[in-house]
Amino acid sequence: MLSVKGIHTYYGLSHILYDVSLEVSKGEIVGLLGRNGAGKSTTMRSIGGLTPPRQGTITFHGEPLAGKSAYRLVRQGIAYVPDDRRVFADLSVDDNLEITYKGSPEWDKNRVYDIFPALREIKDRRSGNLSGGEQQMLTIGRSLMTAPELLLLDEPTEGLAPLIVRDLEQQILRLRDAGISILLSEQNVKSAMRLIERAYVIDNGRIRFKGTVAELEANEEIKKRYLMV
Ligand SMILES: Nc1ncnc2c1ncn2[C@@H]1O[C@H](COP(=O)(O)OP(=O)(O)OP(=O)(O)O)[C@@H](O)[C@H]1O
Ligand SMILES: [Mg+2]
Repeated sequence: MLSVKGIHTYYGLSHILYDVSLEVSKGEIVGLLGRNGAGKSTTMRSIGGLTPPRQGTITFHGEPLAGKSAYRLVRQGIAYVPDDRRVFADLSVDDNLEITYKGSPEWDKNRVYDIFPALREIKDRRSGNLSGGEQQMLTIGRSLMTAPELLLLDEPTEGLAPLIVRDLEQQILRLRDAGISILLSEQNVKSAMRLIERAYVIDNGRIRFKGTVAELEANEEIKKRYLMV
């Protein structure tokens, strides 16, 4: 479904990604694991059209994405959920969802509230007053309102308490069960391993490992060198 082949991405003169390739198939949760500054967000931004690669190809359902704006990609079913949990602070939870709605009969507010019942409870609250976990649910919920086929989830558990992380994991699994494919970037390898079937390990802008969770679990060297676990 998503195929990234040999991309090189830069910020100005800084060469950040080197020959990064990865694939996500329909209905999969795939991990993109790596520590601070490894290139996870840059990979997500490259796919989501925010920082287009200078070399290499990205195809979605076989169709090249080069030159398409982030907005066009959202319409094609690719939603990037950045790690900064940006919501419209002055608007209520419900209004934050409403203004992102793209008219899909499949994904509306009610379906989002079914995935995140905690959001329904606080639907009239001002979004600026939410906890970190609530803001993360709302950010994901907003992207669901665009009816994505592929969700690019950038470090969703960052800074959240362990119990909240566990809840979020259940919700991410529910999204997968609803048919959404997910590329999940994480430094929190333990959490990611509970969700993913396959993983890519990135370090210094290069893919250092690709394989199943069992293969990664057994690879002490990769874990020690690039993941600090
Ligand atoms: N806007 C930018 N301009 C220049 N360099 C950047 C920019 N954003 C990130 N970088 C650099 O690109 C490299 C990869 O950063 P990236 O944000 O992709 O890493 P990451 O794996 O997402 O890290 P983190 O876990 O901290 O989110 C880092 O060396 C970082 O300093
Ligand atoms: Mg990042």
